[in-house]
Amino acid sequence: MTLPPHTASQLERIRAQLVAARLDWRDSTEPVARIPVENYFSAEVRDAEIERLFRPLPLIVGHASELPPGHVLAHDEYGVPMLLTRDADGRFRAFLNVCRHRGMRLVDAATEALPKASIVCPYHGWTYRLEGSLRHRLHAEAFDACDASAESLVALPAEERHGLLWVVPSPDATIDVAAHLCGLDGELPFYGIAGLRPFRTVRAEYPANWKLIIDAFLEAYHIRVLHKDTIYPFFADGLTAAERFGPHIQSLVARRAAEAWAKSADAPLPGDMASLCELATPSQVVFPNAITIFHPDYLSLVTLYPVGPETLSWTHRMLIPADRATPDWTPHWEKTFRLIEEGVFRKEDIACAIGIQRGLKSGANDHLTAGRAEQAVGWFHGDVARELAGVPAWPSLAPVAAGASPA
Ligand code: FES
Ligand SMILES: [Fe+2]
Repeated sequence: MTLPPHTASQLERIRAQLVAARLDWRDSTEPVARIPVENYFSAEVRDAEIERLFRPLPLIVGHASELPPGHVLAHDEYGVPMLLTRDADGRFRAFLNVCRHRGMRLVDAATEALPKASIVCPYHGWTYRLEGSLRHRLHAEAFDACDASAESLVALPAEERHGLLWVVPSPDATIDVAAHLCGLDGELPFYGIAGLRPFRTVRAEYPANWKLIIDAFLEAYHIRVLHKDTIYPFFADGLTAAERFGPHIQSLVARRAAEAWAKSADAPLPGDMASLCELATPSQVVFPNAITIFHPDYLSLVTLYPVGPETLSWTHRMLIPADRATPDWTPHWEKTFRLIEEGVFRKEDIACAIGIQRGLKSGANDHLTAGRAEQAVGWFHGDVARELAGVPAWPSLAPVAAGASPA
């Protein structure tokens, strides 16, 4: 395999920075970003984000393997009660998890998908097929004026792509994940997400704005200080190459092993994920609310939602290679999961977001500042602002060159 083109050029940029012993951002002419503190606590901003980001755009609702054929799964992460189904033929669909009779919730949340031949409402027993049509009503003659074919479950636009399940949580919308992903769509097959399996999923709420978590994953400037005792020993100091694909951002953060690789002039580019992840940790912010972090042997997939202006929901899926999802690997993954979820994410990145939130209204700052070593933070907030202002979709599906201003 060869690296996808933008991943390859990002890794070459890391090599060039190491060879020249000079970080890219020193030559950047982008202005320092100033983010108004209100963006992190205003109820109006949060409502606008729901309306402009979390209802019209495709959102990741799970990994494809979480929903086997003939199974259903309730999904409540995004404030819309969703019912995910996969019929016996393997087709993934999404519906509102609401009965068409008198509105009862059809399926309760569970940690795993439930095997079902049909969906039976727990109130009066109306029964639906996994493709959404109404199959049976008790005493159907009592509904003589109602056409059963008009009582199907309300479908949400749904698509399976790159091993992930995507839904637009608005019944009247359409979905086109490839177009939404812009050029990132061409990079993702290499990353092999479809071949992974969930090891563990954690869901929690924290008293911070959701964008503070995105901010933390868009810069490597903090790794040396915040993560000095956990992951910093594995990373070069603040050495990254980030690239924009419409509103999505892919970053490669150099690991220490990249230093020796860069200095050997004829060292080839890696040809597989394992070799890539030895040299750099790839991470993607899939706009608006998902973050991938490709650790050396597993993937952290984080999805976020603004439960309130100052409360976020955090869902962290640890996805591991399918051939290592066996019991003999379990102790290794348990230890790894504790280290990353509890040690790094919760005690460091999330704790930092909570700490920032506590001081946002203190008057110390009327804006937060993201300098040139954190320029992707400014890109993200610029893109959110564009969406909230109703600026039409990304003018081009081609990636925007690093350092360029959005059109
Ligand atoms: S509310 Fe579902 S069958 Fe009555
Ligand atoms: Fe971090």
